[in-house]
Amino acid sequence: MTDQVIGRKPAHATIEYFDDQHPPLGDFMRDVVDGLSATPRSIPPVYFYDQAGSALFDQITELPEYYVTRTELDLLESISDELSLRAGPGAVVIEPGSGSSVKIRTLLDALGDAAAYVGLDISKQHLVEACEELARDYPDVAIGAVCANFTTGLKLDHLPLPEGRRLVFFPGSTIGNFEPAEARAVLAGFRTGMRKGDAVLIGADRVKDEQILVDAYDDAAGVTAAFNLNLLKRIRAELGAQLNTDDFAHKSIWNRDLERIEMHLVAKRDTSIELNGERYVFEAGDSLHTENSHKFTPESFATLAKDAGYTLVKHWSDPAELFSLYWLEPKWEA
Ligand code: TRP
Repeated sequence: MTDQVIGRKPAHATIEYFDDQHPPLGDFMRDVVDGLSATPRSIPPVYFYDQAGSALFDQITELPEYYVTRTELDLLESISDELSLRAGPGAVVIEPGSGSSVKIRTLLDALGDAAAYVGLDISKQHLVEACEELARDYPDVAIGAVCANFTTGLKLDHLPLPEGRRLVFFPGSTIGNFEPAEARAVLAGFRTGMRKGDAVLIGADRVKDEQILVDAYDDAAGVTAAFNLNLLKRIRAELGAQLNTDDFAHKSIWNRDLERIEMHLVAKRDTSIELNGERYVFEAGDSLHTENSHKFTPESFATLAKDAGYTLVKHWSDPAELFSLYWLEPKWEA
């Protein structure tokens, strides 16, 4: 009988390791009570992503108005030769907030010969599923998963990583969802997982015509509205709040001074949210702020990169100048 096992199982058909760094989980009740008690009122955007919210977010990325995802993917493909040259052979790709991203496939295809991939996410289940799938599709890449909060630095020292250039991949303009000071800290934190010669490849959405921006976050089909209102449904279902979702409307506003899109839930009429023994009164027009998406000019992004301790080595944009990718390298003391 021939040996039926040899040659059938690729080198890395499954993930090499799962490293649980036990990120502290947010306290939903605490955060919502704090947010409703504050002025102005807000809810942290992490709570968008339950199962329904994550499914709605996937739909957002395919909306005609939401140019962000497809523009970034096309741009990545169009610069694939240059990315492969810059990364060099045997790169180690590290993706903070990897979620269920399809973009990593475009990057791994562009590089062609990456040695390893590390997916990092706070949501254990999504992370492991996505990395297992990647491992099946990229048998020549050593895939690992790290459950961690990437906003407080990258702890990679104990991982079995090969020696190639580390490339931290941070697509989707996620950097824009942080306040400017947080964005600087997040970027600076990536340096804790980097050494000389390593780089960051980061996607950032651009300042552009106001109507294009507002529509990208308020689509005709109402998917982004459903995504925003899903927060209220979660607060009702999981925290036992008394509220009427019909009393709130989704709103997307361009804040010109702060160069950001803001998502709000605005009371359509006088109403209230009762939660944990408190009654939070909303008069018609009162707002609950749920998300910011900062937009960048090449100049404002260069300032952010510099302030976070990086040299901006290369900037790419699509022909319509909707979206940018940047190659950053840490500045090291001489
Ligand atoms: N970072 C992306 C953006 O700001 C994706 C995103 C985050 C998003 N939160 C969102 C998109 C809320 C729509 C609505 O565009």
